[in-house]
Amino acid sequence: MTKIITTKAVRLKYGDSEALHGIDLDFEAKQLTTLIGPSGCGKSTFLRCLNRMNDDIPNVHVSGDIKFEGHDIYTNKTDLVALRKEVGMVFQQPTPFPFSVFDNVAFGLRLAGIKDQALIEERVIESLKQAAIWNETKDVLDRSAQSFSGGQQQRICIARALAVRPKIVLLDEPTSALDPISSAEVERTLIQLKRQYTFIMVTHNLQQASRISDQTAFFMNGDLIESGATEKMFIKPKQQMTNDYLNGRFG
Ligand SMILES: Nc1ncnc2c1ncn2[C@@H]1O[C@H](COP(=O)(O)OP(=O)(O)OP(=O)(O)O)[C@@H](O)[C@H]1O
Ligand SMILES: [Mg+2]
Repeated sequence: MTKIITTKAVRLKYGDSEALHGIDLDFEAKQLTTLIGPSGCGKSTFLRCLNRMNDDIPNVHVSGDIKFEGHDIYTNKTDLVALRKEVGMVFQQPTPFPFSVFDNVAFGLRLAGIKDQALIEERVIESLKQAAIWNETKDVLDRSAQSFSGGQQQRICIARALAVRPKIVLLDEPTSALDPISSAEVERTLIQLKRQYTFIMVTHNLQQASRISDQTAFFMNGDLIESGATEKMFIKPKQQMTNDYLNGRFG
């Protein structure tokens, strides 16, 4: 297996308050890894480190080492637009832009300077198919993306993230704002795609983590408690704290 992201001794401070206390965690390519742990333990904070989304928050200080395909992503020379093209992101609330389905999915391609209409069209269709939202949108590509249901909007956002052909997609609780049926649709989509892309997903839903992820990392109070193959961790965790969390004793 290939490690696509490696992190060492990652510390993050919001002002004077340290939210991550030294995280060492590597991610395998073409696997789905879930980050789990109680509210406030640093899952979203850590996820945002991986494509430098925390840079947009004032007074954030990150130290340690984060490499994407062997290259340090925290250098002065790192091209953030290029990084975020390779490491895309999907948020908890579906965030389609207030324009058509087609233009939403084409957005990243146009931003990347692609002008070839035929190529854009091909990519949009392919991405909508990959995100399992093609059947519901193919006859209404010019309808506002915001007029779709929550689950449909989230799949449109996944299509938008996939359109630029990222290597990694970060997902922060992508199904927690959705009803069970939409949530199951998004899960199915991720399962179908996970051999093609690397997914790193935060979830509070332990059943979901055990259903769809290959690897799991358990965070607590800004520390990584343990990580490894999902099945192993759920059956026989190494740490007592993980065992207690998985059995609903806190969190
Ligand atoms: N923008 C911010 N400014 C200051 N502190 C922050 C900021 N964002 C997060 N924190 C703090 O950092 C810690 C980790 O927060 P984070 O959002 O990463 O947790 P989380 O594990 O994603 O929680 P949840 O499951 O509730 O989403 C918390 O103590 C939180 O209050
Ligand atoms: Mg969070």
